[in-house]
Amino acid sequence: MHSPTRPKLLLATNNQGKLREYRTLLASLPVDIITLQEAGVTTPVEETATTIPDNAILKATEYSRLTGSLTLADDSGLEVDALNGEPGVKSARYAGEHASDIERNELLLKNMASVPEGKRQARFRCVIAIAGPGVPVQTAEGTCEGRIARESVGRTGFGYDPIFIVDGMSRHMAEMTMEEKNAISHRGKAAAKALRILERIVGAKG
Ligand code: IMP
Repeated sequence: MHSPTRPKLLLATNNQGKLREYRTLLASLPVDIITLQEAGVTTPVEETATTIPDNAILKATEYSRLTGSLTLADDSGLEVDALNGEPGVKSARYAGEHASDIERNELLLKNMASVPEGKRQARFRCVIAIAGPGVPVQTAEGTCEGRIARESVGRTGFGYDPIFIVDGMSRHMAEMTMEEKNAISHRGKAAAKALRILERIVGAKG
């Protein structure tokens, strides 16, 4: 239920996997979280920047301008060392605009087929940008180191989780519960920093 007295925070993403994770990660914040749909935004902001931080800043400032609301946007992606950092900023569109997570994972596994163990290092990167009326844009970043598996395993999470194994763990990311993933993920780390920024903005500490 939305309260008339609590400030609103727009979670500017249409990715249902991200939305689920942020609702948990930001649960302690005294704000009413609203989605793009609830804010009446029907046209997505084009991700025209060439880096993850710049895309996060672009989305946060544009959606905040469009809605007049305090806004959290993120840009994230998977950087694979053997592929010179690809898919990186293009992670969501790696196998074409309308491809599925399964198709993206299959393409990545195919492109990594000849890469030996020991050279399969990769990391997830997430940059959160926060912007609002009278609030200068601020960012928070998190990374999660790991490697690309040989096959897809697991059904939790989203995106590349079934083919990513976190350093020091044997399970694929898509075999973790959301709580386990949030405790070690790029998004979890960025969100912990973003939480402190948001607490200052909404005055939760005082
Ligand atoms: P964007 O941040 O919406 O541009 O898209 C980021 C893309 O990176 C997602 O669509 C996923 O394919 C991938 N990605 C980002 N974070 C995660 C994650 O936590 N798990 C798996 N894939 C992710």
